[in-house]
Amino acid sequence: MMSNKNITKRQTNAQFCYFHSTLMGSSIRCIAKWRKTHLQPPKTLLVLFLAISFIYSWLLVVNKQQHLNGSNASLPNNITILLWHWPYGTRYSLAGDVCLKDYGISGCVLMDNRTLYGSADLVVFHHFELKLHKQHLPVHLRRPAKQRWVWLSLEAPQNNGNLSPYNNLFNLTMSYHSHADVTVPYGKRLQRKKPGLDFIIPKNKSYEACWVVTNYQKWHKRSAVFQELNKNLNVQLYGLSAKKPLPKEALLPTISRCYFYLAFENTQSPQYITEKLWRNAFQAGTVPVVLGPPRRDYEAVAPPNSFIHVDDFKSIKALAEYLRGLTKDPEKYNAYLNWRQDYMVKLYTDWRERLCNICPIYRQLPTQKVYEDLRAWAKW
Ligand SMILES: *[C@@H]1O[C@H](CO)[C@@H](O)[C@H](O)[C@H]1NC(C)=O
Ligand SMILES: *[C@@H]1O[C@H](CO)[C@@H](O)[C@H](O)[C@H]1NC(C)=O
Ligand SMILES: *[C@@H]1O[C@H](CO)[C@@H](O)[C@H](O)[C@H]1NC(C)=O
Ligand SMILES: *[C@@H]1O[C@H](CO)[C@@H](O)[C@H](O)[C@H]1NC(C)=O
Ligand SMILES: *[C@@H]1O[C@H](CO)[C@@H](O)[C@H](O)[C@H]1NC(C)=O
Repeated sequence: MMSNKNITKRQTNAQFCYFHSTLMGSSIRCIAKWRKTHLQPPKTLLVLFLAISFIYSWLLVVNKQQHLNGSNASLPNNITILLWHWPYGTRYSLAGDVCLKDYGISGCVLMDNRTLYGSADLVVFHHFELKLHKQHLPVHLRRPAKQRWVWLSLEAPQNNGNLSPYNNLFNLTMSYHSHADVTVPYGKRLQRKKPGLDFIIPKNKSYEACWVVTNYQKWHKRSAVFQELNKNLNVQLYGLSAKKPLPKEALLPTISRCYFYLAFENTQSPQYITEKLWRNAFQAGTVPVVLGPPRRDYEAVAPPNSFIHVDDFKSIKALAEYLRGLTKDPEKYNAYLNWRQDYMVKLYTDWRERLCNICPIYRQLPTQKVYEDLRAWAKW
């Protein structure tokens, strides 16, 4: 009990240090609380030192703000990003300084009010709604000289339809692919600073493999692989197509009961690796069996030895036998989970986060560029 308490206090102090340069209000409160409970003679000096350095950095911030208000010539302005329409029709709040508040990115203003078109540095167009003609490009509006239009799609090229109507309109591209001007992956691996095992591997495995499928199409390569795999392995199906829809909060707990998750992409295309890997498999604490781009594309982004690639087997039957063998050999099975000591995975799902992430690389974006043929670029 005692040691637990100490840890909590220390963490509070660490938070105090973190907040102190960003949120003035909360750090003052933190200090006050700290002082009440901890003020002892040997610590007085430390408190004094902290207080002084705090006031000093606060003055620096105030000074900088005055600077901003006084002259806008010497300091860069905010980067303003206008999202022309929300992807897939769901709106999210942009109230307050979203990028700073939620993602620690300053100087980055997101907006979705089209009347602000004239002042936007970047205007982002999500392709899906353009393709369906639900939304239209404002080609009738005069484009400010410095404004750049961003074409955004996280779909594989095969699913973007005909792109030729969009030639000579866009200045930048935003996609999961590393060749895009702004790369927005579905997820990424993060190396841990210290080895850790705070992720508890679910031990209660009831099924050999699971697959959540919302869009089952017989002609998908993944459907054929599943049919063949299912002959030799007990695959539990979930999702709309299986008439077993999983509510959001049940997804990860359900998948965690499976040894393997079939992270099968609907389309095989270079670097097209989606949340099926990052969320459904990795976050659930199961081992992904992947079908998608070649192994090297997975190796470039996924933690080492974290997945099993369908292409590595000479037949689906051989894959099934290999998987069944692993369920009976804990040591070999766990070898696919050991990466968790050294890596974590981060999932990107929020459009606001993706947009905010443009700002830190804004100055490196090409300044004069026109996509004469969007299709050629998206052919990869
Ligand atoms: C700051 O910019 C605004 C408009 O963007 C302008 O009206 C104002 O004169 C500028 N202030 C200074 C001090 O340059
Ligand atoms: C930048 O944006 C923030 C948040 O919207 C705003 O408070 C600030 O005044 C803006 N700064 C400039 C220089 O426009
Ligand atoms: C968009 O901005 C205009 C002008 O600032 C304002 O009148 C309008 O109410 C805004 N619309 C929305 C939906 O916030
Ligand atoms: C393990 O899973 C089964 C269902 O497959 C469930 O009935 C049981 O309660 C679970 N046990 C634990 C300890 O979670
Ligand atoms: C953006 O693309 C348009 C073509 O539609 C072009 O006229 C304009 O010069 C480009 N702007 C920049 C900043 O690259």
